[in-house]
Amino acid sequence: MAATLLPTLSPPVSRAAAAFLLLRRAPAKPFSCLRPPPTLRRFLASASSSSPATPPPALRPLSTVASSSTAARAVPARRDLLMLGIETSCDDTAAAVVRGDGEILSQVVSSQADLLARYGGVAPKMAEEAHALVIDQVVQKALDDAKLSGSDLSAVAVTVGPGLSLCLRVGVHKARQVAKSFGLPIVGVHHMEAHALVSRLVNKDLDFPFLALLISGGHNLLVLAHSLGQYVQLGTTIDDAIGEAYDKTARWLGLDMRKGGGPALEELALDGDPDAVKFRVPMRQHKDCNFSYAGLKTQVRLAIESMNLSTDDIPILSASEEDRQSRANIAASFQRVAVLHLEERCQRAVEWALKIEPSIKYFVVSGGVASNKYVRSRLNQVADNNSLQLVSPPPSLCTDNGVMIAWTGIEHFVVGRFEDPPADDEPDDMQYELRPRWPLGEEYSEGRSVARSLKTARVHPSLTSMIQGSLQK
Ligand code: KG4
Ligand code: ZN
Repeated sequence: MAATLLPTLSPPVSRAAAAFLLLRRAPAKPFSCLRPPPTLRRFLASASSSSPATPPPALRPLSTVASSSTAARAVPARRDLLMLGIETSCDDTAAAVVRGDGEILSQVVSSQADLLARYGGVAPKMAEEAHALVIDQVVQKALDDAKLSGSDLSAVAVTVGPGLSLCLRVGVHKARQVAKSFGLPIVGVHHMEAHALVSRLVNKDLDFPFLALLISGGHNLLVLAHSLGQYVQLGTTIDDAIGEAYDKTARWLGLDMRKGGGPALEELALDGDPDAVKFRVPMRQHKDCNFSYAGLKTQVRLAIESMNLSTDDIPILSASEEDRQSRANIAASFQRVAVLHLEERCQRAVEWALKIEPSIKYFVVSGGVASNKYVRSRLNQVADNNSLQLVSPPPSLCTDNGVMIAWTGIEHFVVGRFEDPPADDEPDDMQYELRPRWPLGEEYSEGRSVARSLKTARVHPSLTSMIQGSLQK
C-alpha cells in the first residue's frame, strides 16, 4: 500500500481546516483518542470527496469560511494554528514551528557541510544516513524551543519533492510518525514553492501575482506566481544551477568548503577585481529567460589552468599573497558574470511577466544563492529599474530551512489542502509517494497565451480543473 502525500489541491475544503483547528483545541487526551471522532471523520470525508466535476469554490480565508460554517461559534483564530515544518530534501535537516500568523516559534537546522567538504558533493546514501541520524533530535529541538509538545500542533508540513528520494523519505517518515502519534493532518510541500512563499511570511503585503527568481544548488527558476498553487515557469536552467557553479568554482579555488562554497566565494570575491578575467556571459544569443552555467564553469576551469594555479594541492589559506590575489580575481570575475546572467534574464522575465500580469508590483528573489549580498544588490537594481519592489527573505530563510516548509504548509492548510492523519495501523515501513522530480508550473514561451499555459498546467492533475474553473469566471 502506498500512502499519498501530494498536496491535495482540490477541492478546497477549508471547513475541514477549521474543524481540525477546533479539534486541536480540545483538552489533551491519550494519543489513540486524538484522531478525529467518527462524526468529524464523516464530515471531513464528505468535504474532501465532493464531485470533481463540480467547479471548486473560490478559495477563501479561513475566517470567512469558518463564519459561514456550522463551526462558526468557536472558530479558532488563524494565530492559533501551529504548524511543524520538516525539510530533508538535500543536505540540510531542518525543522521549525510557525504560527498561522507567521510568528516563528523555533527554527533548527543541522547542516551536512562537513560531509560536503569531505566528499565534494551530496552523496545520496550518505546524506540519507546523516538525515536519519539527526532527524529525531532536530524535530524534538524545534518543539522544545517553541515550548510545545506534539499534542499542541495543528498539523505537520513536510517537503515531498523535488529532491533526493532517499533524503525526502527520511523527512516524510518522521512527519508521518509525528502525525500518526498526535492525530495530525499532513501537508505535502513543494520545496521550490516554499522558497517562493516564505517571502509572504517576511512581507505581509506581498500579494499574488508576483514574479519570483528562485536560485539554489539545484534550481534556477523564474516563475510568475498567479495565485497559491498556480505558477507559470518563465525560465529554468538548461544545465547547471548558479549554486552549483558557485560551489564548483569555490572548490577549484581551494576555498574552505565547510562554510559552504557560495559564502566562501562571496567573501573572497570582495578582495578581487571583477574585470580581471573576461568571462563570456552565457546565452546572450537566446532571447528567452532560460539559464546556463555549465559553460561558465568550463571557462573558470580553463582560467585556473591557464594561470597555473595549483589550487587542488594548496588550499587558499596556505597560498602566497600573489596566488591568493589571482584566485580572488577569478572569484570576483566569475561572480560578476554569473550574476550579470541573472540580471539579463530577470530583465526579460519582468517584461514578459508585466505583459501577462500588468498588476505585478513585487519581484521575489529567494533560495540559497539569494543570501549573497552582491546578488541581492544587483537584483534590487533590476527591480528598481522596473518600478518593482524587491522582496528577498533574510539569509536564514533563503537557505534551506523548516520555516519555509511550515509557512507553505499554513498557506495550503488554511484553504483546505491537506491530508487526513495517517491511520493508526499504518505500517512503519510504508512506501510513500514522493516527487523527486516535480516541475513548478507549466513552461511558458513568449507568444503562447498564458491561459493555455495555465489550462495545461501539470503541477497536479486536480489543479487543471481548479484553473479551468477560475478561467471561466
Ligand atoms: O536553497 P539552498 O539552501 O539548497 C538547495 O535547495 O539547493 O541553496 C544552496 C546553494 C548552494 O549552492 C550554496 O553554495 C548557495 O546556495 N549559497 C550561496 C550563498 N549561500 C548559499 N551562493 C552564493 N553566495 C552565498 N552567500
Ligand atoms: Zn532549497
